[in-house]
Amino acid sequence: MAAKRQPRLINRKAAEAAGQRDELAAGLLAPAAHISPKFLYDSLGSRLFSAITEVEEYYPTRTEAGIFISHADQIAASIGPGCTLVDLGAGDCAKARKLFPTLKPARYVAVDISVDFLAESLDYLQFRHPEMDITGLGCDFSSQLDLPDEIGESPRVLFYPGSSIGNFTPDQALDFLRQARAASQGGGLLIGIDLVKSQTILDAAYDDALGITAAFNLNLLNAVNRQLGANFEVSNFRHIAFFNAEQSRIEMHLEARHTNTVTWQGGERCFVAGERIHTENSYKYTVDRANSLLNAAGFRFTRCWTDEKGWFALFWATD
Ligand code: AVJ
Repeated sequence: MAAKRQPRLINRKAAEAAGQRDELAAGLLAPAAHISPKFLYDSLGSRLFSAITEVEEYYPTRTEAGIFISHADQIAASIGPGCTLVDLGAGDCAKARKLFPTLKPARYVAVDISVDFLAESLDYLQFRHPEMDITGLGCDFSSQLDLPDEIGESPRVLFYPGSSIGNFTPDQALDFLRQARAASQGGGLLIGIDLVKSQTILDAAYDDALGITAAFNLNLLNAVNRQLGANFEVSNFRHIAFFNAEQSRIEMHLEARHTNTVTWQGGERCFVAGERIHTENSYKYTVDRANSLLNAAGFRFTRCWTDEKGWFALFWATD
């Protein structure tokens, strides 16, 4: 019997740890305190995000999945079989896995900052797809996207679903998309982008009745305690989320319920009652603005599919 295939794992997390601690401390000491949303994804945070994708109010995941189903043939025909599918922010790999039967990739490369969660997801995926060539890459790709050469020459399809692009400001998004274009080496980018819609729907999607999004946001403090050696008390903060129409973005914050001081090695910060830590932006685009952004990043050709309500857009962008 042939030996069981194992996913390959490349872990750059240890090399990134010191830089991330500096980044966290700098954000906490800034006049308007902030923590990057990438720190939301510790093991529990990744699980809480998976749970968010199942709550009624959080429409993006299921809307995007519906677009994949409705337009599967066109999407597969545009991309073609045998690609190297590079999944940016793979998480539980659920989205990519659903694409395997239609897209028929030759190779799957899953990239995620949450390396332990990724490794578990990939073990399961390899078990379900014993023939697939699977590589995991544990790294923070938010400011620099550099893919290892060993992932091979077949056309690279960068897969960036779920509107994670919304975490970037439009300027950062442009920079990221330029890097994605370079990294695709003449392949293409398959990207999901959430669209502007009624404020009531947007607000509810980021403050669900079960409190899963609140738990996801608050768990960020546990993640920071672990990464920075800080002593945040979760119960001292509350979850805040709202649509900022002027900036066309959802903002998530953690608001101090009462004045409290947080310390970590080499630093401390007092949060007065009502003071907020900005933890996430989730920008919402129009199809036109998304298209212009892709063009500005150097993708000359785009195809776009949306759902019936026009809530979410999927783009295939190439040179
Ligand atoms: C994974 C960044 C796409 O912005 O909708 C979900 C994260 N935050 N609920 C989003 C998130 C709160 C999500 N992204």
